[in-house]
Amino acid sequence: MSENPSSPAPAKKVFIKTYGCQMNVYDSDRMADALGAHGYVQTAEMDDADLVLLNTCHIREKASEKVFSELGRIRDFRDERGPGAKKMLIGVTGCVAQAEGEEIMARAPAVDLVVGPQSYHRLPSLVAKARTARVIDTEFPEEDKFAHLPAPKRDVTISRGLTAFLTVQEGCDKFCSFCVVPYTRGAEVSRPVAQVLSEARALADAGVREITLLGQNVNAYHGLGDNGETVGLGALCHRLAEIEGLARIRYTTSHPRDMDDELIAAHRDLPQLMPYLHLPIQSGSDAILKAMNRKHTAAQYLELIDRIRAARPDIALSGDFIVGFPGETDADFQATLDIVKKVGYASAFSFKYSTRPGTPGAEMVDQVPEAIKAERLEVLQGEITRQSQGFNSGCVGLTLPVLIEKPGRNPGQVAGRSPYLQAVHIEADQNLIGQILPVEILATGKNSLTGRIVTADRIAV
Ligand code: 5AD
Ligand code: SF4
Repeated sequence: MSENPSSPAPAKKVFIKTYGCQMNVYDSDRMADALGAHGYVQTAEMDDADLVLLNTCHIREKASEKVFSELGRIRDFRDERGPGAKKMLIGVTGCVAQAEGEEIMARAPAVDLVVGPQSYHRLPSLVAKARTARVIDTEFPEEDKFAHLPAPKRDVTISRGLTAFLTVQEGCDKFCSFCVVPYTRGAEVSRPVAQVLSEARALADAGVREITLLGQNVNAYHGLGDNGETVGLGALCHRLAEIEGLARIRYTTSHPRDMDDELIAAHRDLPQLMPYLHLPIQSGSDAILKAMNRKHTAAQYLELIDRIRAARPDIALSGDFIVGFPGETDADFQATLDIVKKVGYASAFSFKYSTRPGTPGAEMVDQVPEAIKAERLEVLQGEITRQSQGFNSGCVGLTLPVLIEKPGRNPGQVAGRSPYLQAVHIEADQNLIGQILPVEILATGKNSLTGRIVTADRIAV
């Protein structure tokens, strides 16, 4: 491929399929930006792609199995195109690439390149090499990946919409005993403050109104400031709040032990910081929390929630739960249900424990049978659904500021988000897209609210 960004050769096309978390969504965009600087344009169709990238997730067993079956489909698709068709390279990136790179190379001969998350800045040269021989790069390089990744062009950012992700932190040092992240994403690294601010300014300049700061352990952020000082997430939010045009800040995902006073105070003091917090506890049982190596108790979590609610009483809480961790008894599971009831979540995600190779949990002897996991998951999800429906119905009659983000499902509709991250559908003109308007919530649906725009003097939040 051409090393000259201004080459007149016809653009090559890259198709990227993204699995997993929001950080993968962000990474896919940055990979597209890196390839874009080398003459690639992104395509939404695999049919005419010169390069197909699967940006994969390894968090649970099913996630990585999906990758192998998708690779089989892509290989068949490529083979069916026949010998006359243009060459299509197949690449695997993301966390499965990192964790199972060698296995992918052995099990899937159709794959031309495997690139781990820390090497995305090398992607253009790795793709060039893959044209002649299969390539694998799953190193943790010394250099700062972010400093070497090109910024997106302004028109590309504009095309991506009014909300954007911004990775500020990557990796994890916590080593929860169920989790692959410390192995796939490596040790905790925070991007320097100046780098984060300049990316955020460029986003705001291209019309982005809301950013979500990302990190596997985002509230452990400790970026280097301009004067050599260490800056925490609360202080970073203050700096971001000064950027003109940037109306909303969110962050995800957090660990209870890193929720410091400064960040809690930012929820009280910064109107731009949205009243929504994803703060997983995983289990309500102290014995299971200990076995998970979470390093806090259920009581400490509840006490933390009290302090957060004292700072921002209307905050909507979200969490993650794992059922069927090794050794989980009926009483342990009951403790999880109890904590869900005590906290009251606006939304939450729950999963059956899935053994991940290389994690301490996989070595534990008292694994819980699948049938029991399934039963517990159903009960827990029932409770979570009741709570989130209760939270949503509690919003009916309130007037909330809604960021109008895009055209709605039906003609004459627009869709946006409330401060609490609820999707809101409104009958309104498309020229309102980009504005934050007071919307009276009229009704709740299964996964969204409906509302109507009212005058500004009725804003409740
Ligand atoms: N099994 C099931 N769920 C898991 N998660 C992480 N690892 C596992 C696993 N091995 C869940 C946790 C985490 C979320 C991103 O995925 O709840 O917070
Ligand atoms: Fe999946 Fe974790 Fe990798 Fe995100 S960081 S893609 S959740 S394994």
